[in-house]
Amino acid sequence: MKNPETLFIGQHLIHLNNIHSTNNFAAKLVKQTKVVSGTAILADHQTAGRGQSGNSWLTESGKNLTFSVILQPKIEIENQFLLSKITCLALIDLLHYFEIDAQIKWPNDLLVSQKKIAGILIENSIKSKYIETSILGIGLNVNQLFSASFGATSLQQINNKEYDLKAVLFQFFQFLEKWYFKMEQGKEKEIDFAYQENLYGLNRELRFLEKDRPFKGTIEGVNKIGQLEIKLNSGKQKKYNNQEIRFMLD
Ligand code: BTN
Repeated sequence: MKNPETLFIGQHLIHLNNIHSTNNFAAKLVKQTKVVSGTAILADHQTAGRGQSGNSWLTESGKNLTFSVILQPKIEIENQFLLSKITCLALIDLLHYFEIDAQIKWPNDLLVSQKKIAGILIENSIKSKYIETSILGIGLNVNQLFSASFGATSLQQINNKEYDLKAVLFQFFQFLEKWYFKMEQGKEKEIDFAYQENLYGLNRELRFLEKDRPFKGTIEGVNKIGQLEIKLNSGKQKKYNNQEIRFMLD
């Protein structure tokens, strides 16, 4: 297996043994050279993998996929959440391909039976009103086995078999490219529909934490700018930005 079966995503692949963070490496690369859109950076091990909200992303060396894809999408800043949607949807497709039913925990996590199987860290650079470069950083648990009490799972843990990391990666590139082209073709409605259809907790009453205050509400959807819309028990709808609330998973 030499190259992925894609037109551009992953056609340039930089495979590193050991690096601080593939997102940091990608950002440096973009600053120092002219990078082709679709270039991917894969690491067997990250020494300072980063997650959302300043958290670290720690995984067992050589067991999982930790990689970044550099894109130069022609989209306006107000549409940047589309990048998050297409990345989530590519992961949903990938997991379906391996017969796993996953859900998107807004904004950027993939869950299987309430356990996290993948996380996404997207970092954009902006020029006037447009996204100049987007770095999609993805951590997908593939062959690591987690203890039952831990809130994470992996492909191997679910399907009881070991996976070839590169084969999984190349399959992901195909799904990402499929959704990327839909985004380029302006098929926002289709992307939106698919994202909501796979959204964890849609139309269900769930418990959340806002700062340290617990409350109950029903998720009504995610709007164009990526805010989570929740109907509160008072009947009022409130919109939340990323990091303003946390889910209280059972
Ligand atoms: C999260 O769920 O908090 C997001 C996790 C993102 C982790 C990936 S691993 C590859 C890329 N490089 C990083 O440093 N982080 C992302």
